[in-house]
Amino acid sequence: MPDDARFEWFADVMGVGAEDRVLELGPGAGVSLARVAGRLRGGRIVGVERSASALGRAAARCAGEIVDGRVRLIEGTVGEVSAAEVLAELDDGVRFDLVFAVNVNLFWTGPAVRAWPLVRECLSPGGRFWLCYGYGSPEGPASSPKPETALLERRAATAGFGCRTQAAGDLLAVELVPLG
Ligand SMILES: C[S@@+](CC[C@H](N)C(=O)[O-])C[C@H]1O[C@@H](n2cnc3c(N)ncnc32)[C@H](O)[C@@H]1O
Repeated sequence: MPDDARFEWFADVMGVGAEDRVLELGPGAGVSLARVAGRLRGGRIVGVERSASALGRAAARCAGEIVDGRVRLIEGTVGEVSAAEVLAELDDGVRFDLVFAVNVNLFWTGPAVRAWPLVRECLSPGGRFWLCYGYGSPEGPASSPKPETALLERRAATAGFGCRTQAAGDLLAVELVPLG
């Protein structure tokens, strides 16, 4: 099943740890979110999704993980929800170890001027921020639409981040590292 290899590759590259506090931007129907939640033992994942119908599907997919506390979902638009609202889902005020998005074009198609500050405010010192792209497999041909690395680098630099890129087959993962 292509999604197995795809999401395992993304989770490996991002170094998802069992205790991580994770924020997913745009989890849609929760396929990527459920995969990361499956790696958590003691950690938690919060998803911020603007589509109510997609969020409903994510809630159904992750019903068990919502009950056991591993998954929290917020209906909202990244760039409009406040960091305080997102961080409130962690209960103890500690920030996120990992923020990521899979196939969300927010940071690609525009400057996302209000989304970058949200990420900064939600990340713990030393936390990781990854943008992942691609629908195929780590072995298959590179056929999915993806941002040009140079474009992402320009957008990231404007927001005060540098880029480190990893690619395999149809998949691209970009780590955004705060500059200075
Ligand atoms: C292509 S889907 C990917 C879903 C999921 N990450 C996956 O890989 O299965 C992109 C999702 O990002 C959501 N999205 C796009 N921009 C958003 C924003 N600014 N705030 C919240 N959600 C957003 C869309 O509603 C959609 O559900």
